[in-house]
Amino acid sequence: MTEILNGVVLANNIKRKTKTRITKLKNPPGLAVILVGDNPASKLYVKLKEEAAKDVGIYVEKFEYAADTTTEELVAKINQLNARQDIHGILVQLPLVQQNVDVVISAIHPAKDVDGFHPENRKALLNNAPVLVPPVALSIMRLIQATRRSLAKCTGVILGNSETFAEPIIELLREAGVPTSLVKRDTPAMSAITRAADIVIVAVGEAAFLKPDMVKDAAIVIDVGTNKVGNKTVGDADPTLEGHVGSLSKVPGGVGPLTVAYLLTNVLKAMEVQQRERSE
Ligand code: GUN
Repeated sequence: MTEILNGVVLANNIKRKTKTRITKLKNPPGLAVILVGDNPASKLYVKLKEEAAKDVGIYVEKFEYAADTTTEELVAKINQLNARQDIHGILVQLPLVQQNVDVVISAIHPAKDVDGFHPENRKALLNNAPVLVPPVALSIMRLIQATRRSLAKCTGVILGNSETFAEPIIELLREAGVPTSLVKRDTPAMSAITRAADIVIVAVGEAAFLKPDMVKDAAIVIDVGTNKVGNKTVGDADPTLEGHVGSLSKVPGGVGPLTVAYLLTNVLKAMEVQQRERSE
């Protein structure tokens, strides 16, 4: 029997608590969302984030830009948003089209960086002084905790393409006592490495990539893939993993909704950090 880790239920709990906390505030937290170009997946993610934020009482302003907008134009908008007291979180939906992502992300004031992507926030996490942690990393940790399994002597593997994506997850797992490495899909002996791991996080961006013979029977598998097959969204894990592994977070209904919920808690956290900084 495979235990299915339900991200929707966990996300609804978080959103309910966040909404209650926001109801008690004098002013709502504010979130600015910047969307560049017309990538349909990005548009959908932004819509989901915007709806969820409004639902819990966050004030949202969305800024849409053409694909050929310059890096400087985006930085100018971010500088305006950095200076506004009613905007506590700034989210730039990625990927950008042709703009310099490092310059754009670094322009966000670290206290407003609700995605946790700013170099200062990344450094703070590695120095055991986390402030704003990437929602996707929080979401993966929450799903693993939901198994209630002891993580002692466990090891993890992230199957993915990006060090930037993997770094905060590796750090949180390390703090939980789980040594974890990033394995790229072209790594020789990839399957032998994934088969040895107790926790496998897959984010390669290919439908049905992770097959049952690539993971051990009792493994916890967290699927972070989002792929379109026809008009369906599917993850990176082959559907036959269900029934084979110990615990499985599937797509849809796993990491995605939980990541949105943690974005909202980050907006609230950002507001608290900024109010504390102003009163100091
Ligand atoms: N694109 C894919 N995932 C993310 C994310 O977590 N944050 C942002 N801003 N863009 C993304």
